[in-house]
Amino acid sequence: MRIHYAIIALAAGLSLAAAYFLWRPEGRAVSVDDAIRESWTRAAPDWQVRLVQDETQKVCSTYRNAPPKPIADAVLARERAMIQYPADGKLMGDWRKGERLAQSGYGGRFTDYPPRQENGGNCYACHQLDKTELSFGTLGPSLLDYGKNRRYADAEIRAVYERIYNPHAAIPCANMPRMGASKFLTIEQIKDLVAYVMAPDSPVNR
Ligand code: HEC
Repeated sequence: MRIHYAIIALAAGLSLAAAYFLWRPEGRAVSVDDAIRESWTRAAPDWQVRLVQDETQKVCSTYRNAPPKPIADAVLARERAMIQYPADGKLMGDWRKGERLAQSGYGGRFTDYPPRQENGGNCYACHQLDKTELSFGTLGPSLLDYGKNRRYADAEIRAVYERIYNPHAAIPCANMPRMGASKFLTIEQIKDLVAYVMAPDSPVNR
């Protein structure tokens, strides 16, 4: 009999704890937006800006990443207009530099201020690329042999440049960060990353 009381007490305790986490003591449900805002009140002003959603992020939150076609088309057009191309028209740089950028997660973290080196692309956090690299994330598709499988076609090279610069120009509510449009990476860095993914002699395609 005593064991039953213990179970009831435990269940009651757990429910109270759950209620506390889901609801504030003042009885107000907390939205994700509120929680984020309230967590960063002492962040530097240039960080505060990052807490404000832009039009595309608002649309994707509102429609749970599936906006109706006319709205999705407007997002694609707006995001495409942000893409800047290299002045010399060459979309591929040096894959060796691109390899280092793909491996680097430097930039934007608390410990990266003030900046001491260039931002990285952090591609391995989400993608498989070189088959000899054992550690990679799987949020994005594998990019193994990406260039080879696409016959190194010019249109595909351009698509990769655009994808890295601004993935929302291809998929309205993309899960990949906008590294060119957000000025996180420079045009030169993006060219090096394109070469890493698309050059025939890059380890991604060998
Ligand atoms: C935070 C995770 C994340 C990071 C970091 C990331 N990607 Fe992606 N990437 C994705 C996801 C997810 C997709 C699938 C489409 C989508 O939802 O955006 C994708 C799609 C792609 C595609 C298109 C693949 C296809 O379907 O043909 C390419 C090319 C690509 N990424 C290259 C890169 C490169 C190069 C980097 C590094 C500069 C990078 N990604 C960094 C998550 C990421």
